[in-house]
Amino acid sequence: MAKTFYITTPIYYPSGKLHIGNTYTTVLCDALKRYKELREFDAYYLTGMDEHGKKIETVANERGIAPIEHVNEMAEETRALWDRLQIKYDDFIRTTEKRHKTVVQKIFEKLLDQGDIYLGTYKGYYCMPCESFYTETQLEDNHTCPDCGRETSQLEEESYFFKLSKYQKRLLQFIEQNPDFITPETRKNEVIAFIQQGLNDLSVSRTTFDWGIKVVSNPKHVVYVWIDALSNYISALGYSTENSQKYERYWQGDEVIHVVGKDILRFHAIYWPIMLMALDVPITFKLHAHGFYMMKDGKMSKSKGQVIYPDIILKRYGLDELRYFLLRELPYGGDGVFTPEAFIERINFDLANDFGNLLNRTVSMINKYFDGTISTKDLSPTPFDENLTEMMAETVKEYKKSMNNLKLAQALQDVWRLISRSNKYIDETTPWVLAKDPEKKSQLENVLYHLAESLRHIGILLKPILIEATPSLFNQLNIRDEFTSWQSLEFGKKKSYSVIKKPIPLFPRLDVEEEVEAIRELILGKEDHQTPEIIIPEISIEDFVKLDLRIGKVIASEKHPDADKLLVSKIDIGQNQVRQIVSGIAKHYDPESLVGKSVVVVTNLKPVKLRGVLSEGMILAGSNKQTLEVLFTKKLNPGDAVK
Ligand code: MSP
Repeated sequence: MAKTFYITTPIYYPSGKLHIGNTYTTVLCDALKRYKELREFDAYYLTGMDEHGKKIETVANERGIAPIEHVNEMAEETRALWDRLQIKYDDFIRTTEKRHKTVVQKIFEKLLDQGDIYLGTYKGYYCMPCESFYTETQLEDNHTCPDCGRETSQLEEESYFFKLSKYQKRLLQFIEQNPDFITPETRKNEVIAFIQQGLNDLSVSRTTFDWGIKVVSNPKHVVYVWIDALSNYISALGYSTENSQKYERYWQGDEVIHVVGKDILRFHAIYWPIMLMALDVPITFKLHAHGFYMMKDGKMSKSKGQVIYPDIILKRYGLDELRYFLLRELPYGGDGVFTPEAFIERINFDLANDFGNLLNRTVSMINKYFDGTISTKDLSPTPFDENLTEMMAETVKEYKKSMNNLKLAQALQDVWRLISRSNKYIDETTPWVLAKDPEKKSQLENVLYHLAESLRHIGILLKPILIEATPSLFNQLNIRDEFTSWQSLEFGKKKSYSVIKKPIPLFPRLDVEEEVEAIRELILGKEDHQTPEIIIPEISIEDFVKLDLRIGKVIASEKHPDADKLLVSKIDIGQNQVRQIVSGIAKHYDPESLVGKSVVVVTNLKPVKLRGVLSEGMILAGSNKQTLEVLFTKKLNPGDAVK
């Protein structure tokens, strides 16, 4: 019988649209599930939504709708997003579902009955965006949250507590005895250090709001959102119900992996195993905590306001481009940065040049020299042949190791080594030279056969990741399913190839400058006002007064020498100062029409060069999809303040 593999993402908060950070976790799990399927495991993939808690209640209130309406909408949107991204999840759990609530209530009552949960008074501080509670000593200066730095609020209320302290020793022992329970190693060490400081009992119920699962024996309390949320990993499988086959099959099966971001490591590495110990449920899972996708200016987060959404990348570039970038760019255990430049370069270099071209050249040469059909030649292998076939076997081995250790960026590097090796093999064997000599016909066929076999290997290994390009590769080389299996990963397995007449490029090459600008515009939402791509964070008056806004009079303006969209203007901003400002308004204004007009200028922006021309400020304009209008004033003079 097939071995089982159960993989989960965190269940996401429906507090805002999901961004490429959350998408990373979901795509990573999807790729791992597909890899296990390639290895013929019975793989089961769970994702879902974490729909309770004060934060969600507040978001719904702000929208003027009931929390359930809000979460219904968000769940539908999220499922639709995962469908667009072709995520192969098997179940989508929502914590507002009855099947989940009943299990959480049972868990809570059981822990209460056996004395692991007791009633007490909670005094402390709560950070709403993090859904976390802190004692006074844990807070930073000004009572701000130690994790996110935002303000916390003080609370004192009756609360149930979970005796974490009672299990502290057992948990440490468990971690020691299961050295690969938490990966990467650095994260494991963080967890150990945290436990060694001593665990406080955890407040696990609330009475100040009611958007949550009620405690059956004392319904003025709702269950703390993390106890609620963590239970999803077994409630979705039917734990403690009559319908518990999946729980037995997958939770008690061969391999269980929770993939989480480093931000929620503690909940999964401490609360969750302790809950399971207390429930007498086996801790079968391994925990993998990955790093974060950052923006150039720091953390990407819904609540902080700097975000890239997957749809903008998907629409303009495609699914495989998005999947490849996300999985390739985040180093194991570390953080990665999403920049438009890195994204376009990965498409151009890795996907279009290295991989796409290899297929293109191979299919073209098989057509050109052999009318589309080649087969294996029993020639004694040249050192180049040997080197390439060895590399195929080696790559399979390395890739398997990387994937089994959840090192996807590494696995992709492994495959790309084979791709580079194959490209080099073309340079070494020079098929175009062999083609000139009729006596070297079999040698030439042997070279192309090696390339086709290498591409077949590459295609199989990339199946879990490039889900649109690999079927195309198999079609172009006309490889049937039996030769795309893991079992068939062996040089010489497929004896002949009949390829399509004209190769279809897998990944078009992109214009770097144009696309970098396009992504920037898409991120800033200039092209899509329906869905603002950046959620602007709240600022204080102190932030606002940092802007030096003044009236300026345009004294000259001309087209930018190198950019159609830009105008270069000289602006009198009072006090005998003239600034040169480059602005993206050329499509809407003739330069001459601006001369003599008064505009609003941000005068204390750091100077930058835009397409080679210095810009020392910014002219303010309003815009929507149809038009752009510079804000002109009539009665004010250069230098007058705008407040
Ligand atoms: N609801 C909790 C999880 C409960 S699991 C029992 C939660 N939800 S969340 O919506 O905030 O999503 C968190 C997860 O999204 C992170 O743990 C991480 O997996 C992923 N990411 C969020 N931002 C991210 C990046 N910028 N980069 C990579 N992953 C990120 O926490």
